[in-house]
Amino acid sequence: MATKSANLCSDELTWDPWAYDAPPDTPRAPVYGAGASQWDAIPASAPVQTEIPERYRRMSADGLERRIAGAKATLGSRLVILGHHYQRDEIIRWADFRGDSFKLSQQAAARKEADYIVFCGVHFMAESADILAGDHQRVILPNLAAGCSMADMADEAQVLSCSRQLGEALGFEPPPVIPVTYMNSSAALKAFCGERGGVVCTSSNATRVLEWAFERGERVLFFPDEHLGRNTGVKLGIADDAMTVWDPRRPLGGNTVDALRRSRLILWRGWCSVHARFTVAQIEQARRDHPGIRVIVHPECRREVVEAADLDGSTELILETISSAAPGSQWAVGTEINMVNRLAAEHPDKQIFCLDPVICPCSTMYRIHPAYLAWVLEALVDGEVLNEIVVADRVKLAARVALARMLALPGRAGRPMTGAGTEAGPCVA
Ligand code: 13P
Ligand code: SF4
Repeated sequence: MATKSANLCSDELTWDPWAYDAPPDTPRAPVYGAGASQWDAIPASAPVQTEIPERYRRMSADGLERRIAGAKATLGSRLVILGHHYQRDEIIRWADFRGDSFKLSQQAAARKEADYIVFCGVHFMAESADILAGDHQRVILPNLAAGCSMADMADEAQVLSCSRQLGEALGFEPPPVIPVTYMNSSAALKAFCGERGGVVCTSSNATRVLEWAFERGERVLFFPDEHLGRNTGVKLGIADDAMTVWDPRRPLGGNTVDALRRSRLILWRGWCSVHARFTVAQIEQARRDHPGIRVIVHPECRREVVEAADLDGSTELILETISSAAPGSQWAVGTEINMVNRLAAEHPDKQIFCLDPVICPCSTMYRIHPAYLAWVLEALVDGEVLNEIVVADRVKLAARVALARMLALPGRAGRPMTGAGTEAGPCVA
């Protein structure tokens, strides 16, 4: 259990993650939990975790460690555990591969020898793994309630409605927009892009992907992260008045037909509650308190925050940059707290801290607690697959097209991004 502190953004962070599970006789509505903003309304269709058996809830940290180690050793090469950088330390230590969502999708595509891919991350990442994995592979998300509030800000019906309205306003032929979805989206939206000449991007390759899209059409619809879209548009030199926001709750997204005609980049109104917390004032404070400090932030932060920082990039880019920095260097980081604290612990020769003084982790990433990992791994040893993520075949085929377009693009070294170990182009300011 987390320790209560005045510095936490919510008292709920002191709860155990199974406080959100649904016992069989007490149906529970899905919730994001601590840290989600009042605007993050969770869709009723979001999965709710059924109750984890009591024996796992009661186990000590040492007991869970022994159970996970034992199950992992028994499963051997039949199992691969993937861990996103935002996972807590007690989870990331078991990951065979750590990475940002791009690198982990490469690993999911490359590890064909494993029967089971246990994804310690969030729902859209496990879905992408299932899309890219072989038919013989089973993908498991240890806690089904580990969603992403940003991914849930665009659903298929809303995007279809947007596409129809854009067609009516701007004409259907040629298609008015090339759709580009951020990796943080449902498989259905990746399929939408695959079927309409569109593509997926991650925070590590958004610039290259948007260039690809603009080679194929004069206008791009980017969803669901307004900020990553705008930050990338700025890097590509798109004028402010050619970027417009689409609010799915308003007719024509809240735009006039003229504004849509002038636009080159239409940005879905969606955001990450964790990265929306970072401010220019925090950066100014860090620079006052630590002269010479470098500020690095994730491109899900607002434009003014990215512009006030020295660098921005994916979690992997943040990790690479700080890991290879000179001893004695100082870093203020604008991304999730588990990753920042781990970087600080792994590099005691550098000063590394989170820009936000209030502790507010990604509440859904945090739901992957060792108890859930022990539970799903021991079930696998017993021949039972729990919490499997299965994308329907029709959706999978179309979504794979959009992901394959991204993976075929050249990375930093000019090679296709497909194989594990190749590099994606960074979004460095
Ligand atoms: P990365 O792809 O940079 O790891 O970002 C994923 C994410 O969800 C950040 O909030
Ligand atoms: Fe989603 Fe934000 Fe969590 Fe990333 S940090 S998984 S964008 S809610």
